[in-house]
Amino acid sequence: MADNNAPTADLVSSGDNNNVSSDNENEVSIDALAKKVQESLSLAKRHKFWETQPVGQFKDLGNSSLPEGPIEQPIPLSEVKQEPYNLPTPYEWITCDIDSEEVCNEVYNLLTNNYVEDDENMFRFNYSKEFLCWALRPPGYFRSWHIGVRVKTSKKLVAFITGIPAKIRVRDTVVLMAEVNFLCVHKKLRSKRLAPVMIKEVTRRIHLENIWQAAYTAGVVLPTPITTCQYWHRSLNPKKLIDVGFSRLGARMTMSRTIKLYKLPDQTSTPGFRKMERHDLPAVTRLLRNYLKQFVVAPDFDENDVEHWMLPQENVVDSYLVESPDTHEITDFCSFYTLPSSILGSQNYTTLKAAYSYYSVSTKTPLLQLMNDALVVAKKKDFDVFNALDVMQNEIFLKELKFGPGDGKLHYYLYNYRLKHVLRASELGLVLL
Ligand SMILES: CC(C)(COP(=O)(O)OP(=O)(O)OC[C@H]1O[C@@H](n2cnc3c(N)ncnc32)[C@H](O)[C@@H]1OP(=O)(O)O)[C@@H](O)C(=O)NCCC(=O)NCCS
Repeated sequence: MADNNAPTADLVSSGDNNNVSSDNENEVSIDALAKKVQESLSLAKRHKFWETQPVGQFKDLGNSSLPEGPIEQPIPLSEVKQEPYNLPTPYEWITCDIDSEEVCNEVYNLLTNNYVEDDENMFRFNYSKEFLCWALRPPGYFRSWHIGVRVKTSKKLVAFITGIPAKIRVRDTVVLMAEVNFLCVHKKLRSKRLAPVMIKEVTRRIHLENIWQAAYTAGVVLPTPITTCQYWHRSLNPKKLIDVGFSRLGARMTMSRTIKLYKLPDQTSTPGFRKMERHDLPAVTRLLRNYLKQFVVAPDFDENDVEHWMLPQENVVDSYLVESPDTHEITDFCSFYTLPSSILGSQNYTTLKAAYSYYSVSTKTPLLQLMNDALVVAKKKDFDVFNALDVMQNEIFLKELKFGPGDGKLHYYLYNYRLKHVLRASELGLVLL
């Protein structure tokens, strides 16, 4: 499934035309130059908001003389703007109490009807209420970072944005950041520059907690990605996926051959493969901490984080591990989260049940075998598709386990933190929900 990916501007010069005949060479090169100037002007104009923010700018790409680290220094909290940003008069800010069933329902409905769609508007993310509660209440979360916008008169919720705190390591430095997510503006209020106000307000509230950096992802290209990843999809229920237009029957393939191609064993194959339990927390934390060290950008999980993010929760997150039958040592770990999508135009189905690969660690069991077992349990749990980004070491198993590349790109960003170089997806150890 495509993930809301807008056409990406090719920022590296691509207009050079080497195949022109010599007599009109000058003319063409002036044209080419003019085109480039125009392109760069329109590119420059394209990010009126993001150009004003402390983020890596396109013009600085490749300029390795700029230092790595914070772009702006913190200011005293007393100098942070104390009152909320102005909204257009019909609207008002609210802090969403996600514990309240009523508020949770409102947020759920806003996102269900207005959140991320693929390029062809065939599918829309359908985060469950349980998932939202999980995603928005990690250890140390701030209620003030769950921000809504209502219509003053009707009280209808029309926009949403959130932050949660997270310790993220960039090379050797652990930085307390916000992970900003669930930015959503009601379809009827699009293109009115509400998003920049929402982003500024969440930033202000993050600053008020003395936090000055953030991590976020988007399907669109903004100034400037620290890395760009691709989604890969492993069919578990190919017949349904083809029926709803998620995938297509391959050339020279019949439905029955396709079903056979994606068939999985009924049972997992790794001895000692089992669901993670609470008493595994210390071992899983050790395993994850050790494993994530190898990536340039990765979360710095402690046991409380692992308890929150990894302990299995029905229809939210699944985690499995390998306990050596001999030594009882925990040697490997894998996890995935549940994120269904609404199917927008099908007669036969309303929901696509998708599992998203989360964090996996292999020390003894080959990653390929571990992930094959993850596919087996996902299939048993009736997921239609298993998705994974090409982050961390995922490239080891994607092709081999019959994942196909999607058309969705996912760009990762840091706010107020510059990296000298763009990362390869495999250098990234961070999965945002
Ligand atoms: C994303 C969304 C809130 C943007 O709102 P909008 O009404 O389309 O755009 P606005 O006129 O309010 O604001 C445009 C500005 O927001 C920026 N913007 C758009 N999408 C963005 C995103 N996902 N993250 C950060 N900034 C974004 C634009 O780049 C532009 O700033 P620029 O001029 O500096 O480039 C809205 O399109 C939406 O709700 N989409 C569906 C859900 C979604 O895709 N959410 C984002 C998930 S990453």
